[in-house]
Amino acid sequence: MKIQLINGPNLNLLGIREKSIYGDSDFNTWLEQLRQQYANHQLDYFQSNIEGELINKVHETGFSYDGIIINAGAYTHTSIAIADAIAAINTPVVEVHISNVHKREAFRHKSMIASSCAGVIAGFGLNSYRLALDSFIYAQ
Ligand code: DQA
Repeated sequence: MKIQLINGPNLNLLGIREKSIYGDSDFNTWLEQLRQQYANHQLDYFQSNIEGELINKVHETGFSYDGIIINAGAYTHTSIAIADAIAAINTPVVEVHISNVHKREAFRHKSMIASSCAGVIAGFGLNSYRLALDSFIYAQ
């Protein structure tokens, strides 16, 4: 399958940022392991701290990929524009979070994008991305 992984703001700092919440692995090292384990699948990765760039990537991949896995970071809780982009495309999208956002501050309990997504996975560390990937692979 052809899957696009999209990480939003501050997720370029995984492994450095708030390790007690997000762990100490950097995303690129972990992604290489994931790619080896899922060698039969194409896993493309994009990260940006800029909302419009995330939207452009959703548009670019949203009519040709088999799935999109998005961790929109804090934009999850604020961005109607990303929600609209997800609603506009054909490719199914799974929202993921490393942390269990529901155990955290109240402002993280609300997702603007979840209602446009096929499903939501939160709280399993970097394995949230793997579970999202499995949701596409095993839905076949
Ligand atoms: C996050 C949770 C968000 O609330 C936060 O703003 C992030 C990361 C997560 O993966 O747990 O940047 O999306």
